[in-house]
Amino acid sequence: MAKNIFIGEILRNEEIRPNYFLMKVQLPDSFDEPRPGQFVMIRIAGLSEPFLGRPISIYSYSLRKSFVEIEFLYRIAGKGTQILAGLIKSSQVEVHGPLGGSYEVFPEKENIVFIAGGIGVAPLSLLAQYLCKNVCLVPSRMNFYLGAQTAKEIVGLDKLTRLCYNIQICTDDGSQGRKSLVTQAFAEDIKKYDPANTAVYACGPKGMMKALAGILGKGKFACQVSLEERMACGTGACMGCAVAVKDKQGDVAYKRVCSDGPVFNLADVIWE
Ligand SMILES: Cc1cc2nc3c(=O)[nH]c(=O)nc-3n(C[C@H](O)[C@H](O)[C@H](O)COP(=O)(O)OP(=O)(O)OC[C@H]3O[C@@H](n4cnc5c(N)ncnc54)[C@H](O)[C@@H]3O)c2cc1C
Ligand code: FES
Repeated sequence: MAKNIFIGEILRNEEIRPNYFLMKVQLPDSFDEPRPGQFVMIRIAGLSEPFLGRPISIYSYSLRKSFVEIEFLYRIAGKGTQILAGLIKSSQVEVHGPLGGSYEVFPEKENIVFIAGGIGVAPLSLLAQYLCKNVCLVPSRMNFYLGAQTAKEIVGLDKLTRLCYNIQICTDDGSQGRKSLVTQAFAEDIKKYDPANTAVYACGPKGMMKALAGILGKGKFACQVSLEERMACGTGACMGCAVAVKDKQGDVAYKRVCSDGPVFNLADVIWE
């Protein structure tokens, strides 16, 4: 078995909102501490169908005495996540990771802005946790814009309220927080933030990221986004997750979300 493939035991796998699950897994302490933005490929240990793991962001990490605990926040999207949702406490999962690169942090920036759509809250929450713990950023410097279609899809708020003071919740139908797109709420506040002194991080559906690219324009704000693509190997071997980005010369280049990403500069991403 490869060095970073582990068998973990499920400690908890609970439906916290309709279709949204929180899974806690115990792993050996040789599982490396993840950097924010990294993910794992997860599959059921010993089950041949589905054979391929599914990429899921690491939502939290805790080092205990002789093991580690990691949490995943996930949404049932299809067959693989449906199977994960059916797993009970004490089931075993195969966890390959941590994989991919991470968000770059800028401790000197005065404002940190997070923009999350739906389940995109998961990697950004680990980033907020990392900034509090390792960079000692005070919660008042962190501004979190969290959007979803309805109140039923707002997840991860309990952890966020312990990490950030300024949280704006937006839903498309106004069932929780303000009735607007999350990008619109950020656009209305944008004048509050000095581009030279602000780091923006985003994760969410493609439409949200495209809208954000339009709002931020040509590179005044440093904005990093975590992209989601369907994956097969998760380690850079199959090119199955390639996306078009601009390289340093401004030419089109194809990068693998799993190994070159999943974090990219928003200004470099070419949206279809
Ligand atoms: C780096 C990374 C981190 C991720 N983190 C999380 C996370 O923390 N929580 C979470 O719930 N999900 C996350 N995802 C998305 C998750 O991997 C997919 O929802 C999952 O693989 C779907 O598998 P499935 O077998 O359930 O669905 P499938 O049957 O494979 O697909 C069901 C439907 O979802 C679409 N789909 C599948 N994968 C993707 C994708 N990556 N992007 C957009 N559409 C897709 C398919 O086209 C299809 O319409 C992440 C993806 C990546 C690449
Ligand atoms: S999933 Fe194989 S290269 Fe990315």
